[in-house]
Amino acid sequence: MKKLIRLTINGEEMEVAVAPNLTLTDLLRYELGLTGTKKGCDLGDCGACTVIMDGKAVNSCLVLAVQADGKSITTIEGVETGKGLHPLQQAFIDHGSIQCGFCTPGMILSAKSLLEKNPHPNEAEVRRALSGNLCRCTGYQKIVEAILDVGRAR
Ligand code: FES
Ligand code: FES
Repeated sequence: MKKLIRLTINGEEMEVAVAPNLTLTDLLRYELGLTGTKKGCDLGDCGACTVIMDGKAVNSCLVLAVQADGKSITTIEGVETGKGLHPLQQAFIDHGSIQCGFCTPGMILSAKSLLEKNPHPNEAEVRRALSGNLCRCTGYQKIVEAILDVGRAR
């Protein structure tokens, strides 16, 4: 039987009825049309499904939608600011940090979560924050450089 949950997604409060076995990834992608959240392994290994839940980067494939009841979620669709691209998005473009782009939303959300807690991270801290995000195109160096640049510009 479906359960009614209330949550905030990208600043918008909503109520949705969800099956008890529905993951947050599947709620976002297939029921709410927020396909920027990618589904890679569906096992908690790749980080492609990363979103921010109450300030913390989480693998949304490991979170049941019912566990998001009462939470605030940020997906890649909610990262852009009123003035345009988020500085992280612009830095990924400027540094050539995007190849196929599949890992990019998860990378940006992990980086955003890091910068909210630690605005000026060093390289080791950036790499640690991205340790759960895999890039099969292996573009890690450019991704790290982009995030470090955003931290330096703050
Ligand atoms: S799809 Fe969630 S960690 Fe890979
Ligand atoms: S850019 Fe292709 S997986 Fe990272």
